Amino acid sequence: MLERIPGDLIIDEVVVGPVGPRDVLVRTAAAGLCHSDLHFMEGKYPHPVPTVLGHESAGIVEEVGSQVSYVQPGDHVISCVSGFCGGCRQCLSGHPNLCDNAGFGVDTAGPPRLRRGDQPVFQFAGLSSFAEQLLVHENYLVKIRPDMPLDKAALIGCGVTTGVGAVLNTAKVRAGDVIAVIGCGGIGLNAIQGADIAGAGRIIAIDRIASKLDLALTFGATDVVDASAGDPVGAVLELTGGGVDHAFEAIGLAATAQQAFNMLGKGGTATVIGMIPLGERVEIDGFQLLMEKRLQGSNMGSNRFRIDMPQYIEWYLAGKLKLDELVSAVMPLEEINDGFAALKGGEVARQLVTFD
Ligand SMILES: NC(=O)c1ccc[n+]([C@@H]2O[C@H](COP(=O)([O-])OP(=O)(O)OC[C@H]3O[C@@H](n4cnc5c(N)ncnc54)[C@H](O)[C@@H]3O)[C@@H](O)[C@H]2O)c1
Ligand SMILES: [Zn+2]
Ligand SMILES: [Zn+2]
Repeated sequence: MLERIPGDLIIDEVVVGPVGPRDVLVRTAAAGLCHSDLHFMEGKYPHPVPTVLGHESAGIVEEVGSQVSYVQPGDHVISCVSGFCGGCRQCLSGHPNLCDNAGFGVDTAGPPRLRRGDQPVFQFAGLSSFAEQLLVHENYLVKIRPDMPLDKAALIGCGVTTGVGAVLNTAKVRAGDVIAVIGCGGIGLNAIQGADIAGAGRIIAIDRIASKLDLALTFGATDVVDASAGDPVGAVLELTGGGVDHAFEAIGLAATAQQAFNMLGKGGTATVIGMIPLGERVEIDGFQLLMEKRLQGSNMGSNRFRIDMPQYIEWYLAGKLKLDELVSAVMPLEEINDGFAALKGGEVARQLVTFD
């Protein structure tokens, strides 16, 4: 639980329930550590406290509300922050990740879903995955095949969906395109393997940590650029003789978002996946827009997660999507602060907390 911002997480007893009419109680199997959780711990984005963080998880349904028909006890599920109302303009036009009623299903009028003693505990992103149980609206879940290992399934809940989805859904990379990915963490490595799946011609991985560049090569990168050695924009322009078709920023810094735009060739598109600290501005050279260059954002890989996530599972089981290789460490909840310290250091890809 996060009690103070900035601050580390503490472990405490939280009471869950009652299960509302459209709520589902899930026994958490595993939850991944994403840099977005860290942004909230560091105060780069505001959130009321106390709150239970975590938003990348999978588990088994224990109990369902009176109106829930989508899942039943025993079903295996992945959670997603992109809860959708199903009735607004965005949902109905195929963009449920941008649901106009974002936050619906979080602020129930009834008793709070999470409590510590008499005090309400704020639910994070409609989920709060760093806990043995999740109590969520049914539209924050996708049912998955029961033979999919739940720890690997958890990774699909955010990292895979965000990285692979940014490439396939947001940017719609085409076979033969020349790609650069800045930041090779949990999200960036998935953008790299998404580009590989799309058949990209060349995939340039950029990070400032050597072990990350080695890992990027195993995820499909064809070239690497060490950002600690100098300006990555110059290096990419030189490698490509004029710039890339698509650049992806997967860190969350204005400076690297600008780098992404500046390494584009004519007609190229920069897709910013990283969460740039609230209030910070990204500057581009207006003249470059005459070269038909584009700068765009990507929210959770522009997912329609009940379609995308089962597809990612099929690809994993068929050997087309790497998940095992994403996992740098598996830990009990008690070690979660060490995990976040390692994430901050930049040496790890994804880490999982497992519950038994
Ligand atoms: N848009 C979305 O919907 C969405 C969803 C999930 C996560 N995110 C964001 O994506 C970003 C990445 O998340 P993550 O979990 O992969 O983080 P991470 O910490 O695992 O990875 C970041 C990587 O960037 C590298 N890096 C840091 N500074 C660098 C620099 N100046 N130049 C080159 N490389 C540098 C680090 O070495 C690390 O490998 C975060 O900002 C996170 O909040 C966005
Ligand atoms: Zn995330
Ligand atoms: Zn909606």
